[in-house]
Amino acid sequence: MSIVTTSGLKKVYTVGDTTINAVNGLDLAIEKGEFLSIMGPSGSGKTTLLHLLGCLDVPTSGTVSIEGKETGDLKPTALASIRREKIGFIFQEFNLLPVLSAVENVELPLRYQKVKPAERRRRALEALAKVGLSERANNKPGQLSGGESQRVAIARALVTEPALVLADEPTGELDTTNTVRIMDLLRELNKQLDLTVAIVTHDPMVAERTRRIISIRDGKIESDKAA
Ligand SMILES: Nc1ncnc2c1ncn2[C@@H]1O[C@H](COP(=O)(O)OP(=O)(O)O)[C@@H](O)[C@H]1O
Ligand SMILES: [Mg+2]
Repeated sequence: MSIVTTSGLKKVYTVGDTTINAVNGLDLAIEKGEFLSIMGPSGSGKTTLLHLLGCLDVPTSGTVSIEGKETGDLKPTALASIRREKIGFIFQEFNLLPVLSAVENVELPLRYQKVKPAERRRRALEALAKVGLSERANNKPGQLSGGESQRVAIARALVTEPALVLADEPTGELDTTNTVRIMDLLRELNKQLDLTVAIVTHDPMVAERTRRIISIRDGKIESDKAA
């Protein structure tokens, strides 16, 4: 089953009298259980594409379908509920709230889903265990290393059991050792939980650890191959 498909997807930005075709006619299907990377140089449209796939942004033209359902006609509240229920996001800068402990950060998406406190805590601790950070549950982000912070962010992305995890340069702030650890962890979660993961990166070391590499340039697919 396709988790997400796009057809003729375009995103055009207009700045003054310049037009930027950030995503420029892109057809793509991501199947359940895939572990793939979207590679390309800076400015090639990776982040724009990821935001369109995750319903964080709306296309200028073309379509995005999530689990077979077209999203083009949906109202902002319906798009927000797709994001909340179906998608887990991981960012380069981790985006953890500094005043909350690790477990409270992981609980946040469940709060938005109005899950009750006791169940929220139980599921957040379970997600932290999956990323090997049970012993750091009560630490605040300032007390965690970059690698640990990203593992907390991965737990936060997993805790809602999303259909699709989208990661934007998830190892961009990490050294080589932690990059390899994070990639190994994502691959393990992909295998054990049948988690569908798409990782945007410009780092060949990250891409070569995935199972499929989609290269984009100027908002178009340049190549798409099994790795
Ligand atoms: N909000 C925006 N307004 C105007 N131009 C943008 C905006 N976001 C991205 N762009 C432009 O779109 C192109 C693709 O950007 P982006 O998707 O961020 O690429 P990447 O993530 O591959 O570096 C770039 O030329 C960028 O400058
Ligand atoms: Mg980017």
